[in-house]
Amino acid sequence: MSIIEQLAQLRREAEEEIRAAGSDKLNDLRLKIFSRKNGSLSAILRGLGGLSAEERPKVGSMANEVKVHLEGLISERMQQLKAAVMEARLQSETIDVTMPGHWQKPGRIHILNQALEHIKDTFKGLGYAVVQGPEVETDYYNFEALNIPANHPSREMWDSFFLREGLLMRSHTSPMQVHIMEKHEPPVRVIVPGKCYRRDAVDSTHFWEFHQVEGLLVDKNVTFSDLKGTLDLFARRMAGPQRKTRFNPSYFPFTEPSAEVMVDCFVCDGKGCRVCKNSGWIEIMGAGMVHPKVLKGVGYDPEVYTGFAFGMGVERIAMLSCGIADIRLLFEGDERFSRQF
Ligand code: DAH
Repeated sequence: MSIIEQLAQLRREAEEEIRAAGSDKLNDLRLKIFSRKNGSLSAILRGLGGLSAEERPKVGSMANEVKVHLEGLISERMQQLKAAVMEARLQSETIDVTMPGHWQKPGRIHILNQALEHIKDTFKGLGYAVVQGPEVETDYYNFEALNIPANHPSREMWDSFFLREGLLMRSHTSPMQVHIMEKHEPPVRVIVPGKCYRRDAVDSTHFWEFHQVEGLLVDKNVTFSDLKGTLDLFARRMAGPQRKTRFNPSYFPFTEPSAEVMVDCFVCDGKGCRVCKNSGWIEIMGAGMVHPKVLKGVGYDPEVYTGFAFGMGVERIAMLSCGIADIRLLFEGDERFSRQF
């Protein structure tokens, strides 16, 4: 067979093979034809040397034409195969945008967190820092340093869960007052939101875990009227601008004087109803001037510095502002309940 015939045969056979090849075969086929060492085209071209000087360029250009032609076919076939793969994928992954969607119920911020955020926002606006502290405390911080010595009758106010070796679950956030003052020089202006624990019998207003927000401000020349102004503003931010506050004398070992902070009932506007037990007033927190013994205990000079503190129950605030009658509802995680707020 002459070289020309061989080239024509290669061209015919290769055309057919390329047309039939799948993408896995195509590369092998390319090597089989064009490989320098053992490709069929190179094998044919090795015969060029035996041709006359006239024939050689003619055959050479024909060989070149075959080469370009076959290369073109291969890349065309490659494109074709790729397009087919893409087409199949588009078919199988088609999304029917007219199908109805799956309804996902949107989540809600829990009513307790809503109340907490509102409290934090109010005090942040007054320049208070928000800090957190440990839920496991020592007897010293939970009681002693707050002027509540062992065997003091006032310990009855905090029926606590005791752990081993002088540790307990904190029964209020007040121990953080001491931690903060031990670490920082005055002026101090913080609120401390956090979880507390008490061995209370569970009923509609008591649960063994609950949340408090503690407040503490210490500086030079802080007076009881600063406390009144601050909490008055807080009450109006929480329960409406027309609200009034009243301070009833009370007792806490770590404040002197101590007060129970009342706000006029926002359900009946002070006329008397079930929520305010017909008194027209609702207690929202305890407060007072930080006891000199507490200040001395952390190394502050009570002759130079004075301060006020307050502590409120977040559950109570949330329940009052949303008309929730049973504290247990706040901890049950029943979505039918939490959805309502
Ligand atoms: N720790 C008190 C409690 O749990 C609440 C309290 C009262 C906090 C008066 C205070 C305060 O900071 O001044 O009952």
